[in-house]
Amino acid sequence: MVEHALMRDRLAALRDAATPSAVFRRRLAEIGAILAVEATRGLGEAEATVATPLATMRHRVLAAPEPCLVPVLRAGLGLMEGVRWLLPEAPIGQIGLARDEATLRPHEYLVRLPPDLARRGALLLDPMLATGGSAAAAVARLKEAGAPWVRLLCVVAAPEGVARLAAAHPEVEVFAAALDDRLDERGFIVPGLGDAGDRCFGTEE
Ligand code: PRP
Repeated sequence: MVEHALMRDRLAALRDAATPSAVFRRRLAEIGAILAVEATRGLGEAEATVATPLATMRHRVLAAPEPCLVPVLRAGLGLMEGVRWLLPEAPIGQIGLARDEATLRPHEYLVRLPPDLARRGALLLDPMLATGGSAAAAVARLKEAGAPWVRLLCVVAAPEGVARLAAAHPEVEVFAAALDDRLDERGFIVPGLGDAGDRCFGTEE
């Protein structure tokens, strides 16, 4: 889990059922930016020469092009906004998954991935890691497309989802704002924050 005072503060707003959709989107993006800082901490660096207005110096810069960003639709789009503040040149793919309410299994309706995924690696973005079925399916797609590494950025994770992802894809690192208690009988994370996609896009019933 990623520990940060600002993130805990933003997460409190996401969890609050009274937070309106516009504020929810903003706080979700801010958490995306904080998670992105942590998930990119170990990216490779190289030496370059930089001329300041006063002197020339050696400086460390990123060695490789920015990793691809792959939001899981829909809720991953809300996280992505903040990740893009830090990685503005990252190509963006999309994986559309909708969880069947009865079986809790993900139904895939869209896959569009950048062609140079194999050169860049991927940050997979999805605020919720519930049963882990969606994340495991999305990682499988990224691996098939040649991603050399995948890191998952999520907001709230359930123990069941963490375990399932670790069993299916043990090499995938998870950067989460919180590990919650459990899943309820409908597969919702408890205490969680409700349905992130609906709250983000104002489509709650
Ligand atoms: C939610 C969430 C994850 C998935 C997590 O998406 O955003 O993608 O469920 O559940 P899992 O770990 O049990 O697979 P949902 O299907 O509600 O789609 P939406 O983002 O379009 O609302």
